[in-house]
Amino acid sequence: MSMEQWLSEKINKTRKAGLYRELRTMSNAPEPEMTVNGSPQLIFSSNNYLGLANDPVLIAKASKTIQEFGVGSSGSRLTTGNTIWHEKLEQRIADFKRMEAALLFSSGYLANVGVLSSLPEKGDVLLSDQLNHASIIDGCRLSKAETVIYKHADMGNLEKKLKETQTYTRRFIVTDGVFSMDGTIAPLDHIMKLAKRYDAYVIVDDAHATGVLGESGGGTSEYFGVSPDVVIGTLSKAAGVEGGFVTGARLLIDFLLNHTRTFIFQTALPPSSCAASSAALDIIENSQEKRNRLLKKVRRIKSTLEEMGFTVYGGDTPIVPVIIGEADKSVRFSNKLQENGIYAPAIRPPTVPKGESRIRLTVTASHNDSEVDHLLTKFNDIGRELMIIS
Ligand SMILES: Cc1ncc(COP(=O)(O)O)c(C=O)c1O
Repeated sequence: MSMEQWLSEKINKTRKAGLYRELRTMSNAPEPEMTVNGSPQLIFSSNNYLGLANDPVLIAKASKTIQEFGVGSSGSRLTTGNTIWHEKLEQRIADFKRMEAALLFSSGYLANVGVLSSLPEKGDVLLSDQLNHASIIDGCRLSKAETVIYKHADMGNLEKKLKETQTYTRRFIVTDGVFSMDGTIAPLDHIMKLAKRYDAYVIVDDAHATGVLGESGGGTSEYFGVSPDVVIGTLSKAAGVEGGFVTGARLLIDFLLNHTRTFIFQTALPPSSCAASSAALDIIENSQEKRNRLLKKVRRIKSTLEEMGFTVYGGDTPIVPVIIGEADKSVRFSNKLQENGIYAPAIRPPTVPKGESRIRLTVTASHNDSEVDHLLTKFNDIGRELMIIS
C-alpha cells in the first residue's frame, strides 16, 4: 500500500468519526475580538486570561530586548543560549512561586515531559489523575517508573492506590492544578495530607492556575497555602508569553539541569520572551482586582448557563466547559456559534471522554459585559435550536 493510500484511509476514518481537526487563521493580535479565517469573531477560547499577550508594557520590554539581544538565543542553555534574562526570569519565577529555585524550558509541555521522564526512576511509581494533561501522560509514558491512574480528584481512590503501592521505592503523586478540559481545581490541600501520610512526593502542573488562583496569582499552592515538592508551569497562558518552568528546591533544579533531556537538548527561549515574562509576573502579582473581576464574570456565565439548562463543569476558574454530548453535535454547536461571531471550538474525543464532547469556553479579564451578554444570548438560541435545552 502506498503512503498516500494508507494515510488517506486513516484520515477518512478520522473524518467519519467526526474527529477531523483543522487550523483556523487569526490575522490580528490576541484581543477579545479577532479576525478568524477572515471574519470578525469574539474569542471565548484563548488562554490569555489576564489579557497580557498584547500588553503594551510587555511589548515594549520584548522590543527593547530584541534590539539589545537579537531575535534568537543561538544555542541551548548549556552552550551559548544562557543570558542574564534567562537567569533573571528564573529568579523572578522562584520568588513569585515562593520556591528556592526555578528552571526554564521551551514550553510547559517540555517541562512536564522532562520532569516526569527524568525524576522518577525504575522501581518508583507515578500516581496520576485520570484527567491529567497530555504532556503529563506523555511524561509518564517516557518514565522508567510505573504509572497508576487514580479517579479524577477522588481522594478516596488516591488513598486506596497509595495503600496498594507501598512496595515501590518512591511514590510521586502528579496532578494538574486546574484541569484544562474540565476547569476543576485539584484538591491540593487533601493531596498534600495524603502524600505526608503515605510518604509520597507531589508534582503539580499549574499551567492554568498560575496568574489566576491565589491572592497574588501564585497558583494552587498559594490558593491552598501548601508547598508541593515540584511545581511546574507555563508562561504561555495567563502570563501571555511563552515558555515553561519548574520550581522547587535548589538541589532539584540542579538535578534537572544535569539530567533532563528536554532541558539539555533544546535551544533556549529568546531573551526577549524572558524579559516580557518577567514584566508579566510583575503585573500578575498586582492584578488582584483583575482576578476578582474575572471570577465575577465566570460566575455569572456559569450560573446563567445552568439556569438555561446546560450542564456546566468546573470550579471557580476561567475554564467553563459546557457539555453538549456527541462529537458531531458539538461541532455543529461550535459552527453555529461561529456563524454568530463567537469563536469557541468543540472539544471531542480523544481529548475528552466519548459522549462528553463540549464547548470549552474560556473567559478573560478583557471581555466586557456586552460581549458576555452576546455569548449568553447565542448559547440560549443555539441550545434550543439543537434541542440541548428546552
Ligand atoms: C495543563 C497543561 N499543562 C501543560 C500545558 C503545556 O503548556 P505549553 O503550552 O507551555 O506547552 C498545557 C497547555 O496546553 C496545559 O493545558
